[in-house]
Amino acid sequence: MLSQQQPRRGMVSSLLAVVLLVASCLAAVARAHAGPHALTNDSVSLLSKGNWFVKFHSPSCGHCKRLEPIWPQLVAPAAAHSVNIASIDCSAHSLACEKYGIRGYPTMKFFMNGEEVDTYQGQRTVEAFSEYVASLSAPLISMLPTTGDEIKKTLQSDTSKPVSFIRWVPDESVPFGAVPFVAASKKLVFRSRFFDATGPESLAHLLDLAKVSGQRPPPADGAALLFMWRDGKLSLFPQDLTSLEQDSAVLDFIIRHRYPPLINLDARSGADLVGDSDVPLLIAFTSPTYPFHYSLLDGLRQVARASEAAGVPLHFTWMSSDTWSPYASRNFKLPIRPVPAEELRPGSGSSPTYPSVVFINPPEQTFTALPLLDLLAEQGPLNQVVDPEHAARIVAAVSASLTQFVADTQAEKLPAAWIGGWVVAIPRLIAKRFEFAFNWAVAHPILVASMFIGVIMSFVYCIIKIAPSDDYDSYNEAPRVLQPGGRPTGRVAAAPAAPAASASSKKSAKQD
Ligand SMILES: *[C@@H]1O[C@H](CO)[C@@H](O)[C@H](O)[C@H]1NC(C)=O
Repeated sequence: MLSQQQPRRGMVSSLLAVVLLVASCLAAVARAHAGPHALTNDSVSLLSKGNWFVKFHSPSCGHCKRLEPIWPQLVAPAAAHSVNIASIDCSAHSLACEKYGIRGYPTMKFFMNGEEVDTYQGQRTVEAFSEYVASLSAPLISMLPTTGDEIKKTLQSDTSKPVSFIRWVPDESVPFGAVPFVAASKKLVFRSRFFDATGPESLAHLLDLAKVSGQRPPPADGAALLFMWRDGKLSLFPQDLTSLEQDSAVLDFIIRHRYPPLINLDARSGADLVGDSDVPLLIAFTSPTYPFHYSLLDGLRQVARASEAAGVPLHFTWMSSDTWSPYASRNFKLPIRPVPAEELRPGSGSSPTYPSVVFINPPEQTFTALPLLDLLAEQGPLNQVVDPEHAARIVAAVSASLTQFVADTQAEKLPAAWIGGWVVAIPRLIAKRFEFAFNWAVAHPILVASMFIGVIMSFVYCIIKIAPSDDYDSYNEAPRVLQPGGRPTGRVAAAPAAPAASASSKKSAKQD
């Protein structure tokens, strides 16, 4: 009996498995065909669970229409990474859009369990969107390998995320510093990598890599440490995480160090640094096709490190002139197409050309450009492979010239121009000033209220003083005495009640 039943049971279970597989496959297909979730005022609460990529749009916006055929195509690839695709029509469901502070359409945001982690900045193609969604499917924090070589190899492996943060705990049961660490890993999901490490073996390797083994006593029992891999070096956060009273210190430290000293600016980091920041920015426009490109970046990096060490608030960045020349042309009057490497010629006159460095002052919306071609030509031929000696000369010349340039621009010694020209700059400047005035008013309500009352009162005072013109002689500037119910007769000076009247007014009174 038993021997007969077993194969049957096997058959039943495999049949069940096939049915389940088909069902789940059909469900996936159905889900893919169902298209994006159309969220409403009420169903927007669905965002509180799971991963969501949401498009906020309005039927009247042109860019939204172009996105319409693309958005449904993301449902299937996103489902493979357990990400829901949704859209919200803000013209009908304004409540839902207000909740997330949507200002313009279309806006695409990524949510993880109800928390907004990112606003999409990239290209609006199926490929770019899919890649974006896939990059989020990886775990936010991964485990660091334990041997020294593997640690270094892992930290160096992803050039698109050059900065990594490592939280080390003596054993996995220690929760110290986990809250800000997880919060930072969500905030910087597209910029930095986050690792967990544990145990004495990985600590020994980490301290060794950070070169602190000799100088630092072993951490106290139960201490949790934060390491940072940045600019090719491992360093240790100055404090033990367990001794910190506030998690915000860890978060601040991580956010402040999210970029390497020299940043390769793209759409994402550009929006982060140019859009919201009041910190001046230096952008080098150069092309990886130029023979001197890497030496130029080395020179730039040297100045960036020195500036960081001196605590100067300034971001050092570079952009590929191959890709970003339309942007450079629109905003900084650099040529539309970058100069091809074989056509590089010095002595191009006063017009700036590639490679160029632009210093940007975001609060003022101004920039100053420094063409570098002539400077580089002085160090050797521009079109030839750079040998080590030539490279050293370039690095020295670039860093000397840039140090001077940065000092001069910071001291406002160089003339600055408006970004995008005055047509763009003036309305922006007015808007900025207006915003400033408004913010100031909001910050000082009592002062504004008293100023307002003061203005009203002086206005009322003026009205009272000026309005009853009947009792005022505008020719002789001396008020008359009013008779009740009658016309004015005589002058104050002539009245006996004014003994202090001057001789001249007495005289004029006599003439009357
Ligand atoms: C969503 O909420 C807004 C604001 O309360 C309201 O004006 C709008 O009519 C609501 N939409 C729907 C479809 O109920």
